[in-house]
Amino acid sequence: MSTAGKAKIERLKPAPRQAEAARLDLTIRPRRNRKSAWSRRLVAENVLTADDLIWPVFICEGTATREPVPSMPGVVRYSVDEAVRAAEQAIELKIPALALFPNTDPRLRNESGSEAVNPDNLVCRALRAIKQEFPDIGLVADVALDPYTSHGHDGLLADGKILNDETVAVLVEQAKVLAAAGADTVAPSDMMDGRIGAIRKALDAAGFVDTQILAYAAKYASCFYGPFRDAVGSSATLSGDKRTYQMDPANTDEALRECALDIEEGADMLMVKPGMPYLDILFRVKEAFGMPTFAYQVSGEYSMIEAAARNGWLDGDKAMMESLLAFKRAGADAILTYFAPRAAEKLARAT
Ligand code: PBG
Repeated sequence: MSTAGKAKIERLKPAPRQAEAARLDLTIRPRRNRKSAWSRRLVAENVLTADDLIWPVFICEGTATREPVPSMPGVVRYSVDEAVRAAEQAIELKIPALALFPNTDPRLRNESGSEAVNPDNLVCRALRAIKQEFPDIGLVADVALDPYTSHGHDGLLADGKILNDETVAVLVEQAKVLAAAGADTVAPSDMMDGRIGAIRKALDAAGFVDTQILAYAAKYASCFYGPFRDAVGSSATLSGDKRTYQMDPANTDEALRECALDIEEGADMLMVKPGMPYLDILFRVKEAFGMPTFAYQVSGEYSMIEAAARNGWLDGDKAMMESLLAFKRAGADAILTYFAPRAAEKLARAT
């Protein structure tokens, strides 16, 4: 027998007396299932695949342009032609869908966010360009006014207040414009009351019966959106905060009520946002409704992990994969994450 073989048999022998003395009288030893990689693989309860990922992509004006976003190291804004290349990359990496966010020219932003309903605005041009070349990739488009308003709010502002019903009327038009440009899924991220039902009705009436609605159902007023606002250029313009429409981080039951309403109004999928600090909400929403439930690992979460990794304080790749698996464990069917291409690449290399 080979020396290696002998050594192996040696290892299989019962433990010597000394170890016996120290042994606890245990029948159940959970570590048995964890003792080797093959066993850990068999008992794993959750798995992350590229099928779980939605890649949020920022769009900017210009051609052949990739502009770095300083507060999100590793993330860039793509000009429309480059966004088509990003879509190609997503397809190669088996990422099912992109979510597009425009950085609108400041000169096109105004009080009423009128550029949101321009069928030739930046995000509509990106939707059309990508759909033309890659009709089979899923395209998600945000419905909200913040990339278009001079005050940086998601809705119409009058006397310091965000108007609900007047905003919904504009969002309905925006949703139709996005669907016409090629959005498969519209994602209202504005948190106005009643917008899901109004958008569903308007889409159906306009013939967009197959356009899905991904409702940002439980969206909290969070500081973790800071880097995103840099990326779409609304942090410079935002006056005040969004606490009169986005949810109070103190609340859980309210999230369930918001989700119940959005389901009743016709949402096809629900989203919980932010992600990591809100896994309890994600868990309860999935448990309560059993709906397709997505989590958004938002910009600030990405930047925290990246900042620590770039300082050598965390293993960035491991933190990325562990955080994404945590979403699956908490009940997410899919995850919007800026790590999508990197995670998908890692997953592809592992198989
Ligand atoms: C806009 C919108 C925001 C995000 C997605 N859509 C920002 C906000 O509500 O201020 C945040 C995404 C992120 O932080 O990655 N309505």
